[in-house]
Amino acid sequence: MFTASLMERAISVLRSNDTGFFTKPGPNQYPHQWNWDSALIALGLSHFDLPRAQLEIRSLLSGQWQDGMLPHVVYHHTTSDYFPPASFWQIENSPHAPDNPTSGITQPPLLATVIRRMHSRLPMPDFVQEVYPALLDWHRWLHTARNADGSGLVGIIHPWESGTDDSPRWLDLLAAIQPENIPEFRRGDTRYVPAIERPHRAEYERFIHLIDVFRKLNYAPAELLAHSPFLVQDVLFNAILFRADEDLRALAASLGQPTAEIDGWLSKMRLNFDARFWNGTNGLYYDYDLRAGEPIQVNTAATFLPLFAGLATTKQLQRLVEEHLLNPREYAASGEVRHWVTTTARAEPTWESRRYWRGPVWIIMNWFLIEGLQRYAYNKLAEIIRQDTLGLIEAAGFREYYDARDGSGCGSENFSWTAALALELSDRSMEENES
Ligand code: DGY
Repeated sequence: MFTASLMERAISVLRSNDTGFFTKPGPNQYPHQWNWDSALIALGLSHFDLPRAQLEIRSLLSGQWQDGMLPHVVYHHTTSDYFPPASFWQIENSPHAPDNPTSGITQPPLLATVIRRMHSRLPMPDFVQEVYPALLDWHRWLHTARNADGSGLVGIIHPWESGTDDSPRWLDLLAAIQPENIPEFRRGDTRYVPAIERPHRAEYERFIHLIDVFRKLNYAPAELLAHSPFLVQDVLFNAILFRADEDLRALAASLGQPTAEIDGWLSKMRLNFDARFWNGTNGLYYDYDLRAGEPIQVNTAATFLPLFAGLATTKQLQRLVEEHLLNPREYAASGEVRHWVTTTARAEPTWESRRYWRGPVWIIMNWFLIEGLQRYAYNKLAEIIRQDTLGLIEAAGFREYYDARDGSGCGSENFSWTAALALELSDRSMEENES
């Protein structure tokens, strides 16, 4: 059903956003190179142009900081009307900043997982050898510079680091921040996308205020941990990191590199993950606010990420699926909501059907969920969600996100990771794995 023409169209979206050495996530809305977008874009490119996929990764790594941080945006000296521009970050005040202009924060570490998958499909030992040291440096930076409480679970300092900017998970924390003297700025994000589909002004002001705090601290990691008003252990980020550490370990083993350091990270995260995130009363994983010292009790699709990481027990899996994923008041496609899966449980009072991370379907979240369900052999449910996801893309095009009620597209058009994941989700080998 989802055959040549969807794949051809996906390829043409990736080609049309290609600048030659990096791929824009969206043609107008996102004109630079974003970290986790880029990882998925490389995965998509690897289906039809492996050398170009490798170049995508090299370009991303050219923005790596000297202390190992891989930033959330690499600007590559290209000018645009995107806000904030490279100069806004003032990264030159950090001794670790690279020559390539970048942002001063990071994003969920998907890259090792993507590279392992590419390598398992089409072995590329020379490329793995080339990029392995940079991957190891980034993971080491995460496990040290962001090991805020010694638990081995990493902290994030900005909602943009979670990749889920205005998720209801962050709303109370942001509301508690009272920004003073916010630098003057003019939003660019509502130029190409209706304001109703973008974060509210109150959240956006705090995004900018946080950057101002960080640049005044010259991005010194210890200062950021000590003073960032936003410091959170995010279930999604930590689950992705755990999975990426496993994948990094596999890459290390394939190169004959030592794995003891990575094993140490994995065992510490595994030891502390449940105690920190699992809520046995509600059968959900919750993020943890390190500043307030308490869990953030908001029900979003981030709760399913431990499936992607293989961190949930069978009992936890059953509770997540039966009490939440299949629950028509939360995530199940039923009634007014026709598509899998809204990024926030519909029962949450802050749910909004078209606003960015407040409710719409995001293809990346569906991909995490499908992969997670397959990992636990819930293949029938994974297949229902896979078909629905591809159907959404087929009907509404390669959009950034979708209204779960009617499947209409929201946000950027011709969105690169939607195209990349359409290729990944259409891959025949997934169908062969079905039960
Ligand atoms: C944006 O500009 O909305 C991005 O999500 C920030 O990374």
